[in-house]
Amino acid sequence: MMLNSEIRAAGIIGTGSYLPDIVLTNGYFEERLDTSDEWIVSRTGIRERRKADDCIAASDMATYAALKAIEDANVAPEDIDMIIVATVTPDMLFPSTACIVQKNIGAINASAFDISAACSGFIYGLSIAEKFIKAGNAKYILVIGAEALSKITDYSDRNTCILFGDGAGAAVVAKVEESMGILAAYTGSDGRGGELLKLPAGGSRLPASCETIKNSLHFVKMDGSEVFKFAIKIMGEAAEKALEMCGLNKEDIDYLIPHQANIRIIESATKRLKIPQDKVFINIDKYGNMSAASIAVALDEANKAKKLNKGDIVVLVGFGGGLTWGAVVLKWA
Ligand code: ACO
Repeated sequence: MMLNSEIRAAGIIGTGSYLPDIVLTNGYFEERLDTSDEWIVSRTGIRERRKADDCIAASDMATYAALKAIEDANVAPEDIDMIIVATVTPDMLFPSTACIVQKNIGAINASAFDISAACSGFIYGLSIAEKFIKAGNAKYILVIGAEALSKITDYSDRNTCILFGDGAGAAVVAKVEESMGILAAYTGSDGRGGELLKLPAGGSRLPASCETIKNSLHFVKMDGSEVFKFAIKIMGEAAEKALEMCGLNKEDIDYLIPHQANIRIIESATKRLKIPQDKVFINIDKYGNMSAASIAVALDEANKAKKLNKGDIVVLVGFGGGLTWGAVVLKWA
């Protein structure tokens, strides 16, 4: 039995990710819609994105990412005390995607639940995990961001379909040596902006009906330019707020892993935080926006590419539907 006072620091001890094999290039959309590779690249930075096969759901991708993360962390499935899946594309409303992952990986000692914070979900998940570890209520927590956005994307809507991709990323959060790991986790929301980004039907407000299907209400609806303005403002602000919480400032950042929604949003945050481009992880060109999976996959790719050194101050920052936002400051352990 752990005593609360023993736990001073929680950090990430392993990461993993999974991307489906099917690649949709910008050319795929050029052939079907009134759009162009030039428009998509210059306005978003996206060149291609992944798409899950019809028979693949969010839990399948989450399972693959989770298995890689627990292998990287060198822990057994039975050691996991909690599984948190951040997703807006759960397999179904219940059971949770986290419970399905629990069954798939044999994490028989874990409690499991999903969280819904759109693209900020992985940050929210890390924030929750940090508290459970520091409180001494859990030893190993799997935090997963998994999305099958292709299943809620209207491929006839050029305003949204070019943006989204599928994938999953996972991290194992556990006790780390003192003064390392998660130094601050900041989350925020503004429900007044909920209408800007939503999936209108399929919940208790508008249950599935012939009418909701006829009106394409089971697809993402987005006011792109309003979300863009919000994102430009909040990305830098959220990162600064999290740094302030742990007594650091923007000059201390060694590496930035931002949510991959639009290259122009990332560039604007980079400029505000005055970080050189080579200290910012970017994979939006390959995967587009994978909502809760974006930061999780980027973290795993940065980790596996050995871009994160022990002691580096790493900032994860994101925003999304809700509206939600958040940032985590890590001293890489
Ligand atoms: N190809 C060509 N033209 C297009 C396309 C396209 N794929 N999409 C939109 N356009 C057109 C629009 O119709 C518009 O034409 P109009 O002026 O004749 O009406 C024109 O391009 C400009 O549209 P804007 O919306 O002003 O373009 P903008 O430069 O803002 O880029 C974009 C649009 C990429 C959507 C941008 O606003 C954006 O990235 N917003 C943020 C999106 C985001 O981050 N969402 C997070 C959601 S994830 C989640 O939480 C699930």
